[in-house]
Amino acid sequence: MMRAPDRCQVWWATSDRSADGGLLSDAERARAGRLRCAEDRLGFVTARALLRLLLADRLDVPPVAVPLGAACRVCGANDHGRLRLDGDPTNVSFSVTRRGARVGVAMTEGRAVGVDVEAADDRGDPARAALAAEALGPAELATYRRIPVGDRGRAMARWWTRKEAVLKATGDGLGFPPAKLRVSRPDAPAALVAWEVPSPSTASRPPVRLQDLDPGPGYVGCVAVLGSHPIRVRELDGDEVLRGGDRRAATA
Ligand SMILES: CC(C)(COP(=O)(O)OP(=O)(O)OC[C@H]1O[C@@H](n2cnc3c(N)ncnc32)[C@H](O)[C@@H]1OP(=O)(O)O)[C@@H](O)C(=O)NCCC(=O)NCCS
Repeated sequence: MMRAPDRCQVWWATSDRSADGGLLSDAERARAGRLRCAEDRLGFVTARALLRLLLADRLDVPPVAVPLGAACRVCGANDHGRLRLDGDPTNVSFSVTRRGARVGVAMTEGRAVGVDVEAADDRGDPARAALAAEALGPAELATYRRIPVGDRGRAMARWWTRKEAVLKATGDGLGFPPAKLRVSRPDAPAALVAWEVPSPSTASRPPVRLQDLDPGPGYVGCVAVLGSHPIRVRELDGDEVLRGGDRRAATA
């Protein structure tokens, strides 16, 4: 029998939580308090609240008791870097992203996942050109320069979210130079074209399934799932999950 595509779920929510409603750990609350930029703080609190609600459902524990930890590949600290579940008995893999008014959480079973959202046009021309020069390989840069100026913001956001999604799935993050990872051109379906050098995290050039996402007006997103088997992606309403958490807290 043919194996069905593996499922991947992505929840999108509005970044508007200033209080965590008792969902976050003390360490997360302390980190939120250290974030000076209001947008960053709202995004962090909203993303963690959403993630904890989703994982609490799977693990059947209260959101605050979800054993969420992190591991930084660079300095070894456990308060930032890629998130993980300590002592997790399930096979769930997850990734979070936040930008401006949007936060996203992606989940898969048994295959590493990475998700990224960007504003379609939040950088001015000089900043975008600098990002293009740094993040795109020579062939991609030649394509970028042929794109009409007015379309470059969205195109660059597509390239960037595709590359970041892959690098979050492997755990490399920006420790891997994005210019050394070739992805399809922005007007083509999302796909990995080539690793110019191996991924340090996996010590290989892993196959990846990519899919562009629709985080809402003004934003673009992408999810990456390691492995070659096809994926089926569903985008879901994270605001509804957060409202459900509020309702449960109000009646507890
Ligand atoms: C994190 C990163 C991959 C993406 O950043 P971004 O697009 O600005 O942010 P996003 O909102 O899309 O993603 C942030 C989330 O990625 C996750 N993340 C962090 N490092 C990660 C990694 N190496 N692999 C996968 N996911 C990672 C975290 O969950 C983080 O959310 P949190 O800050 O709320 O915990 C990139 O900024 C990066 O590589 N940073 C690492 C910088 C570094 O190594 N610093 C050294 C500190 S000692």
